[in-house]
Amino acid sequence: MVLPQRLECARDLMPRRGVMADIGAGDGLFARRLAEEADVFMVFATEFGDLPFKRLESACAGLQKLTLRRGDGLRPLIGEPLAGVAILGMGGRTILRILDLAHAFPHATFVLGPMQLAADLRMGLAQRGLVIVDERLAIEADRPYPLIAARLGQPAELAPLDAVLGPVLRRTRPAGFDLLLRRHRHLLDARLRGANAERRAEILQQIAMLEAECRGDV
Ligand SMILES: C[S@@+](CC[C@H](N)C(=O)[O-])C[C@H]1O[C@@H](n2cnc3c(N)ncnc32)[C@H](O)[C@@H]1O
Repeated sequence: MVLPQRLECARDLMPRRGVMADIGAGDGLFARRLAEEADVFMVFATEFGDLPFKRLESACAGLQKLTLRRGDGLRPLIGEPLAGVAILGMGGRTILRILDLAHAFPHATFVLGPMQLAADLRMGLAQRGLVIVDERLAIEADRPYPLIAARLGQPAELAPLDAVLGPVLRRTRPAGFDLLLRRHRHLLDARLRGANAERRAEILQQIAMLEAECRGDV
């Protein structure tokens, strides 16, 4: 089964074997693909509301190794021995709220695909002791989508530029990283236009840091 690049990158970050979960599985495409793999023992696919859950049920009817659960975030999976948990296609703050229960899955790799507010997500991960162990960039329709892999560790401080660009992406500079830099620069330019004097100085400092990053000076 061929996946869109965003989901393909997420698959690369998930463990190769064990029990997996896809939270907010939508039409179940990612979960169905995981269930096709020989070393994946079982896949839980979850949805929250009535209608999305019914949609998921009809998309996944009769599939082996796939178990559907209805409920909020990780809650319906407490007690399951999960090796990999995908939380994809949601906002960064929704993902963080779901990860409030991450400590219940101490051996899991969490693969996270924020559609917006990736910086808030990275900052929140560091505060909760979820360490970013890998990160990829998928490019779809000229838009960069970060995919983050995190595991439980120690809470830490994240440098502002690491939150915005991702500590692993800053190091590996994958294809599409220039797109991410340009996108963030546009965002800062837009913020600058509406800013008061105090905020302006702060944003100009962020622009200077970003320009240094573009030149490779940091
Ligand atoms: C945009 S879709 C993404 C579907 C799929 N994960 C993907 O990335 O293509 C977001 C899905 O997350 C579900 N969702 C949102 N909040 C949730 C929560 N707290 N628990 C479970 N599912 C949730 C929504 O019902 C929706 O189907």
